[in-house]
Amino acid sequence: MFVSNICVVFALGITAFAKPISSSLTVHERRDVAPNGFTLTGPADESSQLTLRMALTSNNLAGLEKALYKTAFRNDGVIRDHLTKEQVESFVSPTNETTTQVAEWLSSHGVAFTTTSPAGDWLQINVDVTTANQLLDANFMSFNDDSTGKEVIRTLSYSIPTQLQSHIQFIHPTISFPVKAKRSPLTLKKTKSNAQTTPKTSIPNLTGRANVTCCVADEVDPTCLIDLYGIPESTAPQTTSRIGLAEFIEQFPQNADLEAFRPDLPSTLSFSLETLDGGSDPQNARDAGIEANLDVQYTIGLAVNVPVEVFEVGENNADDLDGFLDLADFVLAQTSPPQVLSIAFGFDEPDVPATLANSLCNAYMQLGARGVSVIISAGDGGVSGSQSQSCTTFIPTFPSTCPFVTSTIYQVGATQDFSPETAADFSSGGFSNIFSIPSYQATAVKNYLSSLGTTNAGKFNSSGRGFPDVSAQGVNVVIFDGGEEGTVDGSSVSVNIFSSVIGLLNAQLISSGLPVADPSILNDITSGDNPGCNTNGFSATTGWDPVTGLGTPNYPEMLLRGF
Ligand SMILES: *[C@@H]1O[C@H](CO)[C@@H](O)[C@H](O)[C@H]1NC(C)=O
Ligand SMILES: *[C@@H]1O[C@H](CO)[C@@H](O)[C@H](O)[C@H]1NC(C)=O
Ligand SMILES: *[C@@H]1O[C@H](CO)[C@@H](O)[C@H](O)[C@H]1NC(C)=O
Ligand SMILES: *[C@@H]1O[C@H](CO)[C@@H](O)[C@H](O)[C@H]1NC(C)=O
Repeated sequence: MFVSNICVVFALGITAFAKPISSSLTVHERRDVAPNGFTLTGPADESSQLTLRMALTSNNLAGLEKALYKTAFRNDGVIRDHLTKEQVESFVSPTNETTTQVAEWLSSHGVAFTTTSPAGDWLQINVDVTTANQLLDANFMSFNDDSTGKEVIRTLSYSIPTQLQSHIQFIHPTISFPVKAKRSPLTLKKTKSNAQTTPKTSIPNLTGRANVTCCVADEVDPTCLIDLYGIPESTAPQTTSRIGLAEFIEQFPQNADLEAFRPDLPSTLSFSLETLDGGSDPQNARDAGIEANLDVQYTIGLAVNVPVEVFEVGENNADDLDGFLDLADFVLAQTSPPQVLSIAFGFDEPDVPATLANSLCNAYMQLGARGVSVIISAGDGGVSGSQSQSCTTFIPTFPSTCPFVTSTIYQVGATQDFSPETAADFSSGGFSNIFSIPSYQATAVKNYLSSLGTTNAGKFNSSGRGFPDVSAQGVNVVIFDGGEEGTVDGSSVSVNIFSSVIGLLNAQLISSGLPVADPSILNDITSGDNPGCNTNGFSATTGWDPVTGLGTPNYPEMLLRGF
């Protein structure tokens, strides 16, 4: 029952390794105790089934990084070309030696495996506790997840054959415990007395825009954003530029709310749906998800005529990251993925094991090399992480700290005419403890740190990747949710606004026959800060800063010079 097709293929290689491969085992990863929030209850039931994944060593990730930077940044006169699916996989796939040795080890234990990533760098095995304990010299035990009351089976240590150490990065989940994705803590504020009865009019013709007049009563809607950032009202109907929206933790966008939000748009302008890990998209006011609703309203309702694909990631995921890794692999498996992947969810970086963080970040690198901009919200807790919490040192957020994504945060429009824009005080920002400063950011971060002096010294890692990269409006933003109109605040809005800008730029550039652009021309934001951990956090300043990044979109400049 254990022989899969893949195993049959690799069975041919077994004769080359006559010696039993598991003769000597070496501890590969270990931890002393379970993290807070998990209580040891006893040994695991020996017949419990475990789904374990193995991250194999890629043959040339450094080569892919080089290729990514060659395609991501324009040298004048050079038309950029992205890598194909096959080209990316040729860097990421393990060597024949790696795959053969790992397959031989598993089959010598009678364990079948499947491949879960397009490049073959992730394998999955399904084994009972007894088999897992023998295979990995582990001691899988039963823990109670105190927040959910659910059983979690983990080991505090595991080993692999010594000669496989360079071939296997890590096995998961073993010593790491589940982390839950977070999103902006959105609540619908009912600000207008006539909110439910005022229909939205269609977007006015803003050609020749000279005055920002549309942001009334401190509220942000598509009309306001079109005016504020010089965004086109729509693109000509086209299907080449597309935006992908990631939905996790049972957030379901509602067509009825989208229609109420933009009744002037044809109802054919809806989203297409793709599901994984048992995801679905029930349509019922009761199922309205405030996050999912704002995601579709500020992409379809802002980047009009840029098709939007919603990826509904269900709860049946085995990546222990709420499906983030599964989604990356799902998109990587597509031959023609959307050029923008907008993700309004994230984690506190310290909650995610560095091995797993690196793995997901490398999946985003693969997407980047294929021409997909991964755009992620920075979070809503200032320097205290994805949501406000008590802390003594600053808490960066992830995946915003991955060097291969563009993280966005939000701005408060400080005055009614939004001039100038100011940093929102809950904008997350700071520096990674896992990822070092990428070369493209080195000068900007160095300049910021030298102007910072000793402020906040010891509270953040000055050799880490700084985030966010860019920002956009995120306060008092009008949406419809469950049939009701109101406003919300959160970095979730900013990420969608920014994704729409890139989606529209891509549509204009693609339709004129040019490759896809990257954000580089922005409105610098120079006031406001992001307090947290009993400090004032960081301050926005001229140039890049860990509050607003490089600034907010200036569409006409991005179209003209950003490429
Ligand atoms: C790896 O195996 C494939 C198929 O068996 C073969 O075509 C390829 O040449 C091998 N590559 C190396 C580097 O040995
Ligand atoms: C918008 O206004 C400009 C100048 O006033 C005009 O040339 C253009 O045709 C108008 N566009 C539409 C779609 O009405
Ligand atoms: C901009 O505002 C000024 C003053 O209110 C007005 O005179 C002018 O016509 C406006 N320009 C446009 C293009 O609407
Ligand atoms: C600081 O960040 C670097 C990565 O840039 C990392 O290697 C190092 O461990 C971090 N230090 C701490 C104390 O987390």
